[in-house]
Amino acid sequence: MITLDKNEISVSILNADFYNLKNSLDILRQNDIKYLHLDVMDGIFVPNISFGMPVIESLKKSATEFVFDTHLMITEPEKYIDDFVRVGSDIITIHTEATHYIDKCIEKIKNNNIKVGLSIKPNTEVESIYKYLNNIDMVLIMSVYPGFGGQSFIEDSLSKVIKLKKYIDDNKLNVKIEIDGGINLNNVKKVIDAGVELVVIGSSIFRGDISTNIKNFENIIN
Ligand code: DX5
Ligand code: ZN
Repeated sequence: MITLDKNEISVSILNADFYNLKNSLDILRQNDIKYLHLDVMDGIFVPNISFGMPVIESLKKSATEFVFDTHLMITEPEKYIDDFVRVGSDIITIHTEATHYIDKCIEKIKNNNIKVGLSIKPNTEVESIYKYLNNIDMVLIMSVYPGFGGQSFIEDSLSKVIKLKKYIDDNKLNVKIEIDGGINLNNVKKVIDAGVELVVIGSSIFRGDISTNIKNFENIIN
């Protein structure tokens, strides 16, 4: 599932029109979007609250063909991993800054035979995650401070991706890089060129015509 044969978009529904979500998902489907990025926020780890298990569970019932890419922006994720597995996550990404038990979280996620990601905020050094790379499937580099959609891309994130990509290649590790925050038609090419394979896009897809936006991104990405 994380064996990507091309670069992929993981669509963040955070800024979707939730009343019209079914229509939006149909459009994503028609445009061959495979990944749904689900931003879970607890109001403590980040200064915002989004949605949790019940929403994901309902979505999973009718949107079975999507890969559910769950991004937990919550403190003490170890307490909720089982719940997010149960409601249908295919990938669970936790933040290294959110727990004292990173190894325990990784094991917990892996024991459920789903993919595990580790994420870092813009002010966390990329080197701090090197020691986990043997044990995880993905690193999610935050290119905005987590909490809200529609923010501007932090340029410094690019050098993190380049550094991480080199480390992964030099050590022949099987780890994918995902990026999240502020991706638009003007910067998507440079993040792909830097080594990102899974690109989270939210507001740049839901603002305006969804199909046209996806096609514009796909033309640049692949
Ligand atoms: C931010 C979230 C992102 C965000 C992406 O905390 O993790 O997934 O919603 O949205 P855009 O693409 O609008 O930055
Ligand atoms: Zn996210």
